[in-house]
Parts: sequence; C-alpha cells; structure tokens
Amino acid sequence: MKFITVDSYEKLSKLAANLIASQVVLKPHCVLGLATGSSPLGTYAELAKKYDAGDVDFSSVTSVNLDEYAGLDKTNDQSYRYFMDHNLFAHINICPEKTHVPNGCADDLAKEGERYDKLIADLGGIDLQLLGIGLDGHIGFNEPDEFFTKETHLVTLDPSTIEANARFFASKDEVPTQAITMGMMSIMNAKKILLIANGQNKKDILDKAFNGPITPMVPASILQLHPDVTVIYSEN
Ligand code: GLP
Repeated sequence: MKFITVDSYEKLSKLAANLIASQVVLKPHCVLGLATGSSPLGTYAELAKKYDAGDVDFSSVTSVNLDEYAGLDKTNDQSYRYFMDHNLFAHINICPEKTHVPNGCADDLAKEGERYDKLIADLGGIDLQLLGIGLDGHIGFNEPDEFFTKETHLVTLDPSTIEANARFFASKDEVPTQAITMGMMSIMNAKKILLIANGQNKKDILDKAFNGPITPMVPASILQLHPDVTVIYSEN
C-alpha cells in the first residue's frame, strides 16, 4: 500500500485527479468506480479543469458509483445521482448513459443490488475505484458490522453516519435512514483503489483501518488485503 501525505486539500485533489486522469489516458475504455461525499469534490473540480484544458477525454469511460440513499431520486439535490451529475458529469464529456449509480428508488432494492452487481461484472469489473472513508470506517455505505457483505445491498445507516451527513441536509430528520451500497466484492475486485481523506478528524480511523486488525467493525480495514491501494491524506 502507498500512503501519501500532502499538506493541503488542494494538493490532495490535484494528485488524485492526476491519478484518475492517468488511468483514463492509459485505458480510454476504463471503468471508473466513483464516490460521493465532500472528500472528492476538489478531485472532481480538478478533473473538470483537465477536461477543459483538453488533457483528458472521458468519452469512452464508464462509471459506476458506490452508493445511493434509499428513496431519493435524481431530482432530489441530496441524492448521489444529483451530486454526480452536478459535480462531475455535467463538466466533462462522459456519455450520460455510461454513468451508473444504484437506483435508490427501485421497487425491490434486493433485485436492484443483483442488477448492479451483474452490470459491474458484465463491464469486466472496475479498473480504478475512488473511495472516501467515513468516521466509523465505512467505505461506500458498508457500515461496521459483524461480517463483510459481498454483494450490493441495502443497509441501515449508522447513527454516527446520519449525524455526519446531516450537514448536507436541512435537518438530521431529513437524512434517509437506509441506503444501497456496492458490497466488498466489487470494491475488492477493482484493479486499483485510490482512497482520499482530509482533516484531523480522519486521522484515527485511517490509523485503525490501515494499521489495525482486519475486521468488519472497521470496514475499510479489508483494504489491507488489496494488492494495489493508494491512500492520499491531507491533515488540512
Ligand atoms: C458518505 C459516503 C461515502 C463517503 C463518506 C465520507 O456517507 N457514502 O462514500 O466516503 O461518507 O464522506 P466525506 O468525504 O464527506 O467525509
């Protein structure tokens, strides 16, 4: 594992965007696994700049996002589909039909999980998976549990995750209590993993995830078993 520490969020974002852009340049038909949350916002802005400068062409790329809140559709400005459309897809030349986010409004979320896993498998898996990390060690929305879940599945969000994500909503009561998330199989099958984290408050969980025991109580700790993980961390 490569653990890179930089001294600003700007440097983190530039470096992460460089690594993602390199993947697209080296394999234009790649599958990018994408993440939401505040951590990747700078990375997405840098990717948009690279596209504007003519340095990277996303027209052959397919994307698969990690997760989506249950019950929020693309018109809801807190849905992850809305987040991706507004913070990245609208600013680059990726084909909208090649961008995939789990459907949190599907009638049967178990079936939606099966559809999503088949989609990823049919695409040949993920070339580069971008991840953030939750304060409780979650990746995607794989929350601490007694076991790791392989498939894309419905989860009940941890109270601490609802608390942490309430900052994006008008009130805590508006945060959905459930979500659908890619499971550990698709994440761990990604050829490369790039995890980005910033802020003092992420220091402890990063230490637990990458230096502590591998346990489903710290979901990101499973990444210790992946052969190609790069972590970029900025304290600021
Ligand atoms: C969210 C997302 C995760 C994200 C994490 C950290 O709940 N589901 O994919 O990595 O929490 O978010 P942030 O980057 O805002 O700290």
